[in-house]
Formats: sequence, C-alpha cells, structure tokens
Amino acid sequence: MDFDPSTYQEISFDAILPAKDLIKQIKENNHDNKYPLVMDIGCGPGNTAKLLAKEINPEHIVGVDIDPDMIAFAKQHNAMANTDYYIQDISQEWNQWDKSLQKLAGKVSIIFSNYALHWVRESETATKNMAKLLSNNGIIVMNILYCGDIYRNAGTDERRAQLERQLRYPSEQQVIGQWVTAFKSAGLNRIDIKYWEPKSIYPVKVYDEFIQWPVNWYKQFLTDSTGNEDIDKVLRELILTDRARKMSEKSPKGEDLIEIKQELWNFVIRK
Ligand SMILES: C[S@@+](CC[C@H](N)C(=O)[O-])C[C@H]1O[C@@H](n2cnc3c(N)ncnc32)[C@H](O)[C@@H]1O
Repeated sequence: MDFDPSTYQEISFDAILPAKDLIKQIKENNHDNKYPLVMDIGCGPGNTAKLLAKEINPEHIVGVDIDPDMIAFAKQHNAMANTDYYIQDISQEWNQWDKSLQKLAGKVSIIFSNYALHWVRESETATKNMAKLLSNNGIIVMNILYCGDIYRNAGTDERRAQLERQLRYPSEQQVIGQWVTAFKSAGLNRIDIKYWEPKSIYPVKVYDEFIQWPVNWYKQFLTDSTGNEDIDKVLRELILTDRARKMSEKSPKGEDLIEIKQELWNFVIRK
C-alpha cells in the first residue's frame, strides 16, 4: 500500500471514531466483560491495539498485519507488556500461517478489525481463518469501508464509458454480500450488520496525502491503464466530488478544512 506508518500514525484520527464505535459494540455484546485474548487484524501501526488496551483491558492482545513496516513501527512505538505483533496476511492459507499464531486456534475471544478488510479480496480464506481462531463464545467485531460509486460522478457519457472500461471495481452490494456469503460458508451464521456514515474533518493539505488510500483501492481494479496516465488525478477528482465538502470554517491554525463522508459497514458475528 506504500504508506509510511509514521504518516498514518499522525493522520489516523480518521480511524479512531470507527474504532471506538467497534469497541462500543464489543462492550454491548460481551456481557461477562472478560477478554482473555483479543486479536487485532490489520492492526497497522498499533494505535488500535493501544485503544483496545485502554478501553477493555484484555489479558493479551495480538496484532497482525501484512505490512512488515507497520509491524516494525507498532513494535517500536506501541509495544505493551501484554501485546505481541506479527507479520501475517489474514488471507493466507491456514497451514502457512506463523506457527505461533496457529497455536491460537480456538482461543481468540474477540477478533477486532478496523479499517482493514476492504483491502482483502480473498474473503473465503480470511473468514475460514477467523472461524478457526475464534473460541467457543468468541465474537468478531469488524468494519468494512466501501470507497464509493464514483462512476456516477464521471460526467459526460464518453468519459464515464471510458472509466467503466478501464476500471471494474465491485459494487457495494458485491463487496458486502461477498463477506456475508464467506462468513456463512465458514460456518458463522449469526451476523449482525450496521451501516453508517461517519464524517471526518481534515486540513486540506492532510487530506491531499490521505486520499492516496482510496485512489489505491480503486487502482487494484484497473483493467487497462494505457492512454490514461493521469488516472490518479481523475480518481482524486471523482472521489472528492463523491464524498467531500469544503468547509467555510478554518482550523485554529488558519488552515482550509474539508469534510469527508465515509460509507462504513460494521459486522458483529457470534460463534
Ligand atoms: C487503514 S490501515 C488500519 C490500521 C488500524 N487498524 C487502524 O485502525 O488504525 C489498514 C491496515 O490493514 C493492513 N492489511 C491490508 N491487507 C491485509 C491482509 N491481507 N492481512 C493483514 N493485514 C492487512 C494494512 O497493511 C494496513 O496496515
């Protein structure tokens, strides 16, 4: 994903509100208030592991992330006595997982994932792995971000047709439906879903960097990039049109501000 963990650490206030909302759902669904082992999937730089420690005080937290730089950063900046971080792709076949993580099969009481699973396309393998890790009364609490339907803002018919030829991203229905189907085929049928639209306000110059995340999400689905070298620019423009609102207020430092609407699906899944 080519994103510097320290930059992410700085701007991740964007992810904090959704993470807190997931923690609220954990508290509502785990009535005995005991958290022997919590796994944070796509833990990034370790911010959410720290938040989990503060909010629900688990006995043990294991953070996993596919990106070695994120894990190195988490170990250096967000290490805690009861926390371990591992490089691990959630969608890797189970028998290839890190051996220490394989030992956690059937032991994880809460699987938590904030702002990460929209990167995972092999949902069938990922959900099988989650089902394997979960303890008998375990709960999965996670969210999936949908980056938005930008075809509808593509303007003239010609431009829109060209974009649709070059970019075949899945619809929201496909993305969310695919996860529901995958959980069911992993034997997890007790699924509650909540849709909501958190809003974040950023200084414009911060958003200019952050917008590269959704741009990269769409670019995974490029079918043909020839003849459109400025695809990043086109995507930036369309994403902004789809979900941004320039604000008349300035930040206390006098910076221009922008409000971004997100489309987020929270899942709570019980074994
Ligand atoms: C936007 S960050 C979220 C970080 C953290 N959860 C937070 O809320 O601050 C998404 C993270 O998901 C990780 N990720 C993407 N695909 C993954 C996969 N297949 N397995 C594990 N982690 C993955 C990325 O490396 C990245 O660190």
